[in-house]
Amino acid sequence: MKICAGQVGVVTGGASGIGYGLAAALAARGVNVVIADRRRDAIDRVVERLVRPGIEVLPVEVDVSDASSVQKLAEVTVARFGRVDLVCNNAGVNGKAAPIWEQDLPTWNWLVGVHLYGLIHGVRAFAPIMIEQGFGYFLNTASIGGLIPLPGLGPYNATKHAVVGMTETLDQELRAACPALGASVLCPGLVETSLKETSAMNRPVGVETVEATSDVSAERASLRAAWGSVLTPADVAEIALAGVEARRLHILPNNDSAAPVRARVDRLIEDLPEPQ
Ligand SMILES: NC(=O)c1ccc[n+]([C@@H]2O[C@H](COP(=O)([O-])OP(=O)(O)OC[C@H]3O[C@@H](n4cnc5c(N)ncnc54)[C@H](O)[C@@H]3O)[C@@H](O)[C@H]2O)c1
Repeated sequence: MKICAGQVGVVTGGASGIGYGLAAALAARGVNVVIADRRRDAIDRVVERLVRPGIEVLPVEVDVSDASSVQKLAEVTVARFGRVDLVCNNAGVNGKAAPIWEQDLPTWNWLVGVHLYGLIHGVRAFAPIMIEQGFGYFLNTASIGGLIPLPGLGPYNATKHAVVGMTETLDQELRAACPALGASVLCPGLVETSLKETSAMNRPVGVETVEATSDVSAERASLRAAWGSVLTPADVAEIALAGVEARRLHILPNNDSAAPVRARVDRLIEDLPEPQ
């Protein structure tokens, strides 16, 4: 899809990090933006930063794991703007690091709720509107962890794989319904955001998250050593929007994601049965 001034973009998790980066990149292109997030105070702060002449920025408090909350988001969007062009299902969280058998059920329910049901609710609420309009596009944020194993982060890994799989199917179903519709899945590697801190703010009572570190720069250095590139949300947003315009199904912003993804695919190919 071509991204143009006057369109309408909805960004869940738009109050910080990659979501804010996407919202800012859309606003810079003259797109009206709906900032949908669970944290009202954070929404209000970013709306002030995004507002500019010629566009409207609509704040909506939403919990993506709640079907009625997302349905209301779609209704409010259409009531205000009369259309929706791009829906970024981006809100995300992360829980504590532990092997899968030690991850407790409240953590599983939380991550399945935000990542998997968040996407299900987003598609159920917005796809019918797009089909009726005859245009519209989904950009769903997964992770490199949706394409490769991620030891220690099983619930994150499993739910992000679900986002990748669902987007691949969604894209085919949307194109079959109407050729102008489609979906892309964004699979970043490491990005400099406050995911750890906002996850701690958003967690349900009793759920553990990774402790915030007191030495952020040392932590970043060790992550860089383990993972290679660490991108900014603004970098990711530019690559993501270029990927949407090119109708790229999988968008991988970090160059060093290629090697682990290739290793996984090679392993899968190795395991394929011999043709009869
Ligand atoms: N930071 C990374 O390295 C990285 C890498 C790959 C993928 N991602 C994914 O990118 C997406 C954005 O994360 P980020 O890194 O920008 O973190 P972030 O914490 O800056 O942004 C996430 C936003 O989602 C919001 N949110 C959380 N639960 C919500 C809910 N139930 N309903 C509505 N909003 C909710 C948070 O309040 C927050 O504003 C997530 O899906 C994350 O999994 C991040």
